[in-house]
Amino acid sequence: MSRIGVIGAGYVGLTTAACFARLGHTVVCADVDEAKVEALGRAEVGAHEPGLAELVAEGLRARRLRFVPGNAEALSEVDFVFLCVPTPTGADGAADLTAVHAVLREARDAVAPGCVLVIKSTVPAGTTERVAALVGRPDVQVVSNPEFLREGHAVEDFLRPQRVVVGAEVEEAARRVVALYEGTGAPTLVTGSASAELVKYASNCFLAMKLSYVNSLAELCEHVGADIADVTEGMRLDDRIGASFLEPGPGWGGSCFPKDTRALLSTAEKADVDFPLLRATIGTNGHQAHRVVAMVREAVGGSLDGVRLGLLGLTFKAGTDDLRDSPALAVAALLAEEGARLTGYDPCVEADCGPVTVLDSPEAVAEGVDGLVVLTEWPEFAELDWPNVAAAMSHQVIVDTRNLLPGDKVTEAGFRLVSLGRG
Ligand code: NAD
Ligand code: UGA
Repeated sequence: MSRIGVIGAGYVGLTTAACFARLGHTVVCADVDEAKVEALGRAEVGAHEPGLAELVAEGLRARRLRFVPGNAEALSEVDFVFLCVPTPTGADGAADLTAVHAVLREARDAVAPGCVLVIKSTVPAGTTERVAALVGRPDVQVVSNPEFLREGHAVEDFLRPQRVVVGAEVEEAARRVVALYEGTGAPTLVTGSASAELVKYASNCFLAMKLSYVNSLAELCEHVGADIADVTEGMRLDDRIGASFLEPGPGWGGSCFPKDTRALLSTAEKADVDFPLLRATIGTNGHQAHRVVAMVREAVGGSLDGVRLGLLGLTFKAGTDDLRDSPALAVAALLAEEGARLTGYDPCVEADCGPVTVLDSPEAVAEGVDGLVVLTEWPEFAELDWPNVAAAMSHQVIVDTRNLLPGDKVTEAGFRLVSLGRG
């Protein structure tokens, strides 16, 4: 078993730390956020991730997991250091590597000979090789090991991943990192570091492209009398297309797809490679929130000025409390710009979000509104008591941007239901 330092205790770092401890390694997890470190030391996990708080508690009890403020301890006296710090969108859409560079500068003088620095943060192709030169320690290897976990499924995705990809210039260092995942049973792929880095962007951007394609297809369905559910059901039966990532919605969001699509486009532009598919993927997604607003405007009679709307769902997808780059909030901002007055409910959100006054139940949101807009696919929304909801509202109109609600029950309760892609 190995000694592992994890830098950054966010969605990825905390999951990495807790899961490596579960696999039997000894882990020190560091963060600059002292309040977060203190809370984690008491097994208080802020993020809504099934199983994560239990794994953190287990690791602390077994003394295989520790949380420390500042990075010094997690850099010295360990065999591997995993960098799990943010790489947000920077100038011109490229990934901002400030945090990665800052940690590597600290690591340069702190890590022991033979230590492997592992970049788990999502970074552009070529970064690992370039920063290895910056670190400038021939006794220390720098390796790329991108992370593919989904929020809301972080623990299961880490412990049972569909693949582990490790990229390095020195294969022995890559093999040492692969060995850490023994026990997950995952298929592994060892490549050069630029290829590993690109696998990450290629995967996220391909999924985003699939979603933009489906959202455009849904719009087309509305014009030609087709139903997107039937069309995608037919597509799913083809193994080459695959069954998932075919649900239309208010646009794709979250902390990664928006920034990673922009970053890959920036990489392509710098390499002088034209990538029109990627531009169209991003552009189509930018259009989606406006399309949803047009549907809502039309559903409530042509103007949003002064209209009271209840929003169901605020997070960027169901199963998470993450509001970063949430399409629901993008739609809310546009509705508010046109004068709509907004209340909202989300099972994982308590505080008001921009123009949305957050209430504590879907029923409270329905009270007296002129329409409901479903923006996140929380399964509980499909189970509402529709006759009661209808009675509470002043106008019985619903725009369901996730095609989640049971159409027959909702219409029987007297609603006019507008869904995506139903011609
Ligand atoms: P996050 O914002 O949830 O967490 C990052 C943590 O790093 C924060 O707690 C922050 O305080 C800490 N931090 C920042 N600078 C630091 C420094 N210099 N030293 C120590 N700690 C520092 O971010 P995240 O969602 O975990 O993403 C991290 C990286 O992983 C990004 O590159 C992201 O693209 C990638 N990624 C994220 C996901 C996901 O689902 N969130 C999945 C795969 C890959
Ligand atoms: C995504 C990838 O799925 C992970 O593999 C990757 O590790 C992660 O990004 C990352 O790099 O951070 P995540 O951001 O958790 O994971 O979200 P997804 O489940 O991929 O959903 C992204 C967006 O697409 C959401 O807004 C979701 O509502 C939307 N979506 C997804 C649809 O609109 N329709 C679908 O059929 C599927």
